[in-house]
Amino acid sequence: MDDDVDFIRRRYDRIGNLHDLIVRLLFLPFGLRERAVEWIGLRPGDRVLEIGCGTGPNLGLLRDAVGPGGHVYGVDISAGMLTHARALCTRNGWRNVSLSQGDAAAYAAPEPLDGALFSLSYNTMPHHRAVLARTLDQLRPGGRIVVMDAKLPPGFAGRCILPFSIWLMKRTVLGNPHVRPWEHLASATTDFAMQERLFGSYYVCRGSKPRAGDLPDGCDRGA
Ligand SMILES: C[S@@+](CC[C@H](N)C(=O)[O-])C[C@H]1O[C@@H](n2cnc3c(N)ncnc32)[C@H](O)[C@@H]1O
Repeated sequence: MDDDVDFIRRRYDRIGNLHDLIVRLLFLPFGLRERAVEWIGLRPGDRVLEIGCGTGPNLGLLRDAVGPGGHVYGVDISAGMLTHARALCTRNGWRNVSLSQGDAAAYAAPEPLDGALFSLSYNTMPHHRAVLARTLDQLRPGGRIVVMDAKLPPGFAGRCILPFSIWLMKRTVLGNPHVRPWEHLASATTDFAMQERLFGSYYVCRGSKPRAGDLPDGCDRGA
């Protein structure tokens, strides 16, 4: 199911023009992007990173959350997707948004981050564990990571949809429907929470980077 990083880059370079239409056709629930950004808990002046920012549909929301004194960073492996994000920034005159092309696993933000967002991107990255670890390294203690994405609904419905999901993803946005990002986030963070939408076919989850002395929610504190 997992594709190699170069194949993913080429796929997104090709679908850059169609990506936002594809997302709309996949019934992304109304208000889910807003909820994801809200769950990062950003304050004016904060620094935030979107990993796999694509054509930039979240950049305006992130910018509103950090205000003119904050900064939004975006990284994406696809030049084709970033062309649209850059045009959006230019059109809106956003000076405090910096976009970089490259693999998120190698991205280094120029300053410590207060929050990070994976929006429809985590399970397109075959090395998502490495990307998550790198993101956590760059977050200040207490800073939040939010993951928002589609998933299989639970039970029988999910098992019925799985073959169609795999067929569709292979032809469009790629990714691996068997990946369970919420489990990865819960095991690496504190303060974990998750909300599902549209009968469990979309979710948003969040967790905070442990401060000194905290253990991630997934750790057993023992007797
Ligand atoms: C489905 S799109 C989501 C775009 C955007 N975040 C949104 O919410 O619409 C997934 C994005 O992840 C990017 N991506 C995939 N693998 C990546 C990697 N290893 N490093 C950086 N970006 C990556 C793709 O190029 C694509 O733009």
